[in-house]
Amino acid sequence: MTATTRDHTLLELIGMLIDPAARPDPYPLYSRIRELGPSVLDLALWENPGIVISSYRECEAVLRDPRMSSQRGRDRNLADLMPSGAPSSVRQRWFLSLDPPDHTRLRRLVSAAFTARRIGRLSERISELVDELLDRAAERDAPFDIVEDLAYPLPMTVICEMLGVPAADHEQVRDWSSRLTRLIDGFGAPPTGESVSGLLALNVYLNELIASRQADPGDDLVSALIAVREGGDSLSHDELVSIVALLLVAGHETTVNLIANGALALLRHPDHFAALRENPQLADAVVEETLRYDPPVHITARVATEDMELSGVRLRRGAMVVLLLAAAHRDPGETDNPDAFDPYRPEIKHLAFGLGPHYCLGAPLARLEARLALTRLVQRLPEPALLQDPPPYRDHVNLRGPLSITVPRPSLR
Ligand code: HEM
Repeated sequence: MTATTRDHTLLELIGMLIDPAARPDPYPLYSRIRELGPSVLDLALWENPGIVISSYRECEAVLRDPRMSSQRGRDRNLADLMPSGAPSSVRQRWFLSLDPPDHTRLRRLVSAAFTARRIGRLSERISELVDELLDRAAERDAPFDIVEDLAYPLPMTVICEMLGVPAADHEQVRDWSSRLTRLIDGFGAPPTGESVSGLLALNVYLNELIASRQADPGDDLVSALIAVREGGDSLSHDELVSIVALLLVAGHETTVNLIANGALALLRHPDHFAALRENPQLADAVVEETLRYDPPVHITARVATEDMELSGVRLRRGAMVVLLLAAAHRDPGETDNPDAFDPYRPEIKHLAFGLGPHYCLGAPLARLEARLALTRLVQRLPEPALLQDPPPYRDHVNLRGPLSITVPRPSLR
């Protein structure tokens, strides 16, 4: 196949993937893209032609490849769009898109405060929140929307409480966060006014929150991040703001999809719904299989730091390497019968939390929230019945997930 026909086909398929019509089930398109093999993609907004990778092995290799950079260059654009009085923290890159040694340093400092112990302590509070949210839905005289009434408020409340954001501000923070999520969606499209204003407002707010914790520390994660000292090193004010913003956005815009996608898979598979209700021990496998079968994050990207050959394609330094994680998860070369939702697989392989130096810092928290939410959900729903199938979807291509999942009301406790 010549480069031109291959480009053309890939572009068409990507166009179909971006179309909202594909949102309920993009997986047949992912299969077709995977069948093309590693393919050149030349978008007008990129300086050089890039490559799209969609097999499991190749995604895995790119995530581990030290020649790949996570600096995806949109920050320069963003800084240009900020008003002159914007706090300097808006120019601080999120460490998600930094390379060593800056990434290594920040990740080490954050890990010292965002510990497994801190997350483990949350288990009881998360269970309590799940039941409170289900109680509220049970008492209301309306169908229950699993996304709006459970999957969204749970991770939002958990991360806000961890960070010490007062309850009265949660709604506001949610609004800024959902506006700026557009920055991490899609194929590197330029930021919109909405996303820029969301980032700016969140930065102004977090500057104040951090200053108030500096003056009056508490038991929260922000105070712990302020207090971290490692070999004489600590986090600057602007670094703190950007880290807290990243934790806030990464902490719920993804987990909402894990809970929603898991609930949807269970509702569509009454046998697994019943099995989880019978045996809560199955929750870990249900969560892992959801992460594989219908992951919360579909795409990530890297940039080639040198001219190189990747999977038989010549790339120039600066070329984008787009990884279709959701396509890799359905790779029949890696998983038998990949299109089936089967929590009983002997081994569940996925890249939903990435791999290598940028492996998701919040994976234990996301898993804990999803496990507790799904276990309780199946216990309190009268039966696995969907009032609308397929449900409507948020229009995000990357952080893809249902906008709402309506079901009959849960039972009272
Ligand atoms: C990184 C997915 C939940 C914080 C990542 C990456 C992925 C990911 C794929 C790596 C991106 C890359 O290498 O390009 C997810 C999914 C989640 C989830 C699917 C939920 C189901 C969370 C939560 C938090 C969090 C709850 C924090 C509260 C982070 C941070 C990074 C990250 C800080 C950057 C790590 C680094 O660059 O070293 N996540 N995430 N994530 N995630 Fe998550």
